[in-house]
Amino acid sequence: GKGQGDLDTVELRHASGASAQIYLFGATLTSYKTPDGVERIFVSPGAIFDGKKAIRGGVPLVFPQFGQPDKAMAQHGFARSSHWTLASVEDNIEGSTATLTLVDSEATRALWNHSFALEFVVSLTAASLKMTLKVTNTSEAPFSFQTLLHTYFRVSDIGEVGVRGLGGRTYLDKANGGKELQVSDVALPSFTDRVYVGGKDLASGNAAKDVLIIQKGGVSCAICNEGSIAGVPKPIEIVVWNPYEEKSPGDLPPPAFKEFVCVEPGLIGQMKDDFVEMHELPAGAVACISQKIIPTS
Ligand code: BG6
Repeated sequence: GKGQGDLDTVELRHASGASAQIYLFGATLTSYKTPDGVERIFVSPGAIFDGKKAIRGGVPLVFPQFGQPDKAMAQHGFARSSHWTLASVEDNIEGSTATLTLVDSEATRALWNHSFALEFVVSLTAASLKMTLKVTNTSEAPFSFQTLLHTYFRVSDIGEVGVRGLGGRTYLDKANGGKELQVSDVALPSFTDRVYVGGKDLASGNAAKDVLIIQKGGVSCAICNEGSIAGVPKPIEIVVWNPYEEKSPGDLPPPAFKEFVCVEPGLIGQMKDDFVEMHELPAGAVACISQKIIPTS
């Protein structure tokens, strides 16, 4: 189909009434509606659909860098502002799955000189939406990388949102500086920008990879997050972000910030005091990061 700015989209529909929309630009998922017709994803009313700037909202794909450790490359990398290819749409009894792909080109190699293949797989069922980003190193040498699913969850009022499941984790507080221990639910009463580090022991079954979004005292959504490198499950980082008025970018005019919370699973790297040692992906190996959204009310 066609979306805003005449950009190409793919729509997934399930017999239950659930639906999803993905722009080929950035492979940005911009809508997920449950069978009751309720929109679960936030897109900014000020989002720009010019096929150049990353779409503000939805699920931008962060790759190959988080933030801007390499100043010569755009913040959060180029995947979210590249034109992807629709590889397939498949329907089965359970649901529909779309697969989008992006491989290196002269343009990407000018920014980041590695060969890679990305595959973004979105599966819609009556009860859930699952997104998986697969990164394959198609070059002859290992590369360092970072990746996240930068999901903007639609909420009714950020001031009443809680994020549960991160208690006991350490976070880097990008808003205030320093490192803190999360004690219980995350509340977002003001500008919040935190990286919850993925230091938990996966073998203990306590990786805190599953989080819940709480609104008005009830759970509105369960989110299962997973990451792996070369087939080995990895503790993942989770970024929680809301800019409030003070940090709202130009394409997110206030008071739109009230209507979302970003909960972003990723492979950012090993935190070593103040610096991050990025994960390496061996030649030929695959890294995966996935997020399954299960709305509960
Ligand atoms: C978050 C970062 O993931 O993304 C924030 O932790 C950043 O620091 C936010 O401000 C939005 O980034 P951008 O590039 O989409 O404005």
